[in-house]
Amino acid sequence: MYKLVYYPDARLQVPTKPVVEFNDELKNICANMIATMVESKGVGLSANQVGIDKSIFVMQTKKKELIEFINPVIVEMNGHALLEEGCLSAPTIYVPVSRATEVVVKAQRLDGSEVTVVAEGIEAVIMQHEIDHLNGIFFFEKTNSKFRKWATKQLKKVLEKL
Ligand code: CO
Repeated sequence: MYKLVYYPDARLQVPTKPVVEFNDELKNICANMIATMVESKGVGLSANQVGIDKSIFVMQTKKKELIEFINPVIVEMNGHALLEEGCLSAPTIYVPVSRATEVVVKAQRLDGSEVTVVAEGIEAVIMQHEIDHLNGIFFFEKTNSKFRKWATKQLKKVLEKL
């Protein structure tokens, strides 16, 4: 299991690098990321949240499948909804974030093959949250300034007690 990185760690605030080699190291990273996410009871985890500078996220689907997304990009977004979001890099803190209700994501699998995935609801929210991570955007930046100030202060207190 990897060690989690907590906000405002600098690694959560810079974009990650694209994956260019589809090898055993990549397979190991993805397997360890999935193990870390499951162990931490999360439904999504990006590589920079475990200190790895690569464009990879893993997630758990509604059907409890565990999938990796390599070099993911959002190519289409539809609708919007305001929902409470949390993150393994901000334990116990939840703030409302406006997200598209449907997304189309292009990504690669472990063998380098390209896939296009259409997602809605909670799965669409997870993908947007994780792809934000990979672009160096933390979800606190997506809420209003009142919630952002509260969350940043509250998280500091939570992390002091960890
Ligand atoms: Co997160």
